[in-house]
Amino acid sequence: MDSIRVQGGAPLQGKVRIQGSKNAALPILAACIMMKEKCRLDHVPKISDVYGMLQILEGLGCRTQWNGHSLTVDPSGFHGKDVAGEAAKSMRSSIFLLGAMLARQGRATLENPGGCVIGKRPIDLHVKSLKAMGVTFRDRENGILARTGKGLSPAEIWLDFPSVGATENVIMAATAAKGETRIHGAAREPEVTALCGFLNAAGAGIRGMGTGELCIRGGMPLHGVRFRIPSDRIVAGTYLFCGFSAGGNVLLEDAPSDQMEAILLLAERMGAGITVTREGIYAQFPERAGMLSSVRTDVYPGFPTDLQSALLAVRCTGTGKCLVRESIFENRFRIAGELQKMGAKIRQTDEKCVLVEGVRRLRGCKVEACELRGGAALVAAALGAEGETVISGKRYVDRGYENICKDLRELGARIVGE
Ligand code: UD1
Repeated sequence: MDSIRVQGGAPLQGKVRIQGSKNAALPILAACIMMKEKCRLDHVPKISDVYGMLQILEGLGCRTQWNGHSLTVDPSGFHGKDVAGEAAKSMRSSIFLLGAMLARQGRATLENPGGCVIGKRPIDLHVKSLKAMGVTFRDRENGILARTGKGLSPAEIWLDFPSVGATENVIMAATAAKGETRIHGAAREPEVTALCGFLNAAGAGIRGMGTGELCIRGGMPLHGVRFRIPSDRIVAGTYLFCGFSAGGNVLLEDAPSDQMEAILLLAERMGAGITVTREGIYAQFPERAGMLSSVRTDVYPGFPTDLQSALLAVRCTGTGKCLVRESIFENRFRIAGELQKMGAKIRQTDEKCVLVEGVRRLRGCKVEACELRGGAALVAAALGAEGETVISGKRYVDRGYENICKDLRELGARIVGE
């Protein structure tokens, strides 16, 4: 079985500890191959995307070992052959091996990266930036071969769009390019900052973190390091929206509130009482999500695209109408059809925009998750719906949530994974 069964209507109460960040962990795991010594990462989420990345690293000769949520990656056996196999094909994040392998050995062979079905997701910005650093690309059957002739050269890189993945790949490559590389228009997401923090702890020279201008002094020797993966702002945000749907009050322990300003502001606009303490985020939810007439996703520090579906799910039962605009990915309204099955009033006005008219309550029924964040949003919708909802496609949710059913059960929800 591959589904999640939810009996709606039980308010959430209590506390839940937030797992480590998927999007921070994945590039950092890839970057471990740039070291010659072991690295120990703490607070690593035990999710299928991380297991997939470990499979890829092991395929490249690395040894990995779990101890609770700490993970040791020993890259001493790295042999640098092809990044191949099922995990490489199904995971968009295998693209991080491009920058990491170029940094380690000046060469990388990758299968076409797969991943979530949320749009075209090209890699032109990765390719263009790395070409500026002296990398040449050749198409191979189902993949690409990237290599440098005389090694990586430092460069001035201008990104046409602040792509998270392209910024991370260039950072990794630039760490190995002797001299100074500058990235103009870099992504400012906290996960980029986490990667820079990890590399700097290992001896790299990266400045400008959290800004759109990064400066990387490359060629410094890197050593093994112990590093804590930050908590996952998207998981914390998902549980916040689950609370809106179900009602009640919760403490999101260890939630990275400093990375969640836009999310918390929006939650307050929708009527939640938010208190940030040293323990985490305490949220009290209103009976019904309040007025919110328009929301637009944006790059950090804007409202994250990864929470757009959860917001949409909750907004279906809010008061009045709301325009939700997706400005990062195309094809990110696939969940709308499933919410309509539950009784939501949603109309797509153009490719990147939907208009939601709040109804009093959604009805439980059979729905299908077809990607990670949309699946989690259906869970949020189901928690507040009347009767039972069965969500198929649990495997997509497992890509990013360690145990969403257990976490929500601890908060009083009636939810089981099957
Ligand atoms: C990362 C996150 C993902 C999040 C996204 C935006 C990871 C593992 N995933 O994905 O959860 O939703 O950031 O915050 O960290 N683009 C191009 N050309 C490129 C690269 C990107 O046109 O070469 C476009 C994409 O199609 C998309 C937009 O830029 O429309 C944003 O993509 P990007 O920031 O690169 O997202 P990812 O790194 O794939």
